[in-house]
Order: sequence, then structure tokens, then C-alpha cells
Amino acid sequence: MVNIRPMTADDVADAMRLKAEAGWNQVAADWERFLALDRDGCFVAESQGRVVGSVTSCRFGPVAWIAMVLVEKARRGAGIGRSLLVHALEHLEAAGARSIRLDATSMGRPLYESLGFRVDFHLDRYSGIVETVEAEGTSRPARPADLDGIAALDRIATGTDRRILVDRLLRDNPLESLVAVPIRGFALWRPGSSADQIGPCIAEPDAGQALLNDVGRRLAGRRVIVDIPTSNVDAVAWAERAGLKPSREFWRMTRGEPVVEDLSRLWASSGPEMG
Ligand SMILES: CC(C)(COP(=O)(O)OP(=O)(O)OC[C@H]1O[C@@H](n2cnc3c(N)ncnc32)[C@H](O)[C@@H]1OP(=O)(O)O)[C@@H](O)C(=O)NCCC(=O)NCCS
Repeated sequence: MVNIRPMTADDVADAMRLKAEAGWNQVAADWERFLALDRDGCFVAESQGRVVGSVTSCRFGPVAWIAMVLVEKARRGAGIGRSLLVHALEHLEAAGARSIRLDATSMGRPLYESLGFRVDFHLDRYSGIVETVEAEGTSRPARPADLDGIAALDRIATGTDRRILVDRLLRDNPLESLVAVPIRGFALWRPGSSADQIGPCIAEPDAGQALLNDVGRRLAGRRVIVDIPTSNVDAVAWAERAGLKPSREFWRMTRGEPVVEDLSRLWASSGPEMG
């Protein structure tokens, strides 16, 4: 018998066990951020007192995101993933979400399709050790006063008011950020268990390459991952020049009202958790 209940800070160690089993890159600070952004929207599946599954969600006004859909390997194929998803969907719909979004792995995609999610676009995860790329940009670390400009750029590119997310990411990792000056783009990055995740990187179409060059210079020699919409060919070209290789793929999916994103401005997703 599996019971689904709200996740708490005490579940982070179990959640980390599930994510390690799946070989994902999140660290405890990521789970803490999911809980801080929407404590009521994160759930675990428990069987005989043991956590065997997870799902997180977060609402940005009418647009909601689902992530961290994980089921312990030994318990897969028994309906736990579907129950977690249905639980999160009911929670989000009751809370007024009109669009529910996620980045699906190939393993999760059939489950989401069966629950009415449709594919919007494809992303490739590039990974490897960053090589320094030529041509410096004119960026500097973000300051608290940049938040309005950063949130506005983010909203134009993503069609979603993610101010609470960028605010939280900037507070968590104040030194791991750059803004293109004048503010025509921003890039954030954060530590992961096996690589630094670069993203979000949102910039005007002619400003992203120089900004990412500056990020590459900061991270040169480090192992990174970066999730790039395949159709942003300039972002893909940057990743290839930086010595990164495609290693995984995701499909961005939506259930409900479509959300219009400007992929020419979306140079790197924040990751599969919140687009
Ligand atoms: C994806 C995952 C969460 C599914 O959990 P689960 O408990 O095994 O899923 P369920 O038993 O509820 O199955 C739900 C549906 O998924 C589909 N499904 C599950 N495993 C599948 C597989 N190996 N191949 C194809 N379809 C599969 C089936 O269509 C099933 O539909 P049904 O209910 O009509 O039979 C689990 O496999 C997992 O943790 N994978 C690793 C992490 C991951 O990729 N998460 C998804 C992130 S987007």
C-alpha cells in the first residue's frame, strides 16, 4: 500500500537517494529550493514508512511546473509514478494552474502523454569540461538592483513571470551570475553533484554568445551541463565551440493552455525542473 503525502525538509535525504539512483545532478540545496518555492506542491510516496517516490511542483501565476518525478528502481512499473503525477496535477488544478509544464525524459514521456501532455519542443543536454571560448563580452556579476531587469528579460523569453525563481537562484548563488551590460541578457549557474549546471541564460538574440563566452571563461576547466533548445542554433554552436557534447535529451511538454516562449532568447534552460 503506497501513501502520498506532502514532502518536508526531513525527506531531503530520501529524495537525494532517489535522485542518486537515477543518476541525476541535483544537490540538497535544489530540493530545499523546490520546498521553499512551493512547500504545498511537493509530495513523496511512502510504503511501509519508506520513501519510494517523489514529485515536486511550483506555480508561477497561471503556469505551473512539475519535476523530480522519481520512483525507486525496485518499485517501478507498479503505478506509483502515475499516482504521484495525478496527485500533483489535482493539487495544481485546484490551485488554479491553467498551464502545467515539464521537461520529460524518454522514460517519463509515455506517462505524461497518457495524462494529456503535448510536446512543445526538444532540448539537448550538452556536457563536458568547458574550454575557454574567444571573444570577451561586456558582462559583470549580477547585483540585487538588477532583479527587475533580469525578471523582465526572463518574462519576455519564457512567457512566464518567474521572478520568484530568479530571485531565489540569485540569493542562493550570488557569485554565480553574470549580466550583459547594458542589461540585454543574464546567465546563472549553480553547483550540482557531478557538474555545474549552467542556466538559465536568457539574452537578446545578438547578446547570448558573448555572454556565454564570459560564463565559459569563469567555468573553464570545470565539468558542466547545459540544457539548450535544439532550435537555438547559435546556442548549440556555442556549446560545441566550448567543447561540450550532447549527452541526454528532453522534451518540453505542456498540459492545458499553451505558453509562448521566444526560443531565440532562451540560450539555456534553468534545468529540467522549471524550464
Ligand atoms: C518514469 C518513472 C517515474 C515512472 O514511474 P513508474 O512508477 O514506474 O510508472 P507507472 O508504473 O505509474 O507507469 C506509468 C505509465 O508509464 C509508462 N511506463 C512506465 N515505465 C515504462 C517503460 N519502462 N517503458 C515505457 N513506458 C513505461 C506506462 O505507459 C505506464 O502506463 P500505464 O499506467 O498505462 O501502464 C520511473 O520509471 C522513474 O523513476 N524513472 C527514472 C526517472 C525519470 O526518468 N523520471 C521521469 C522524469 S521526466
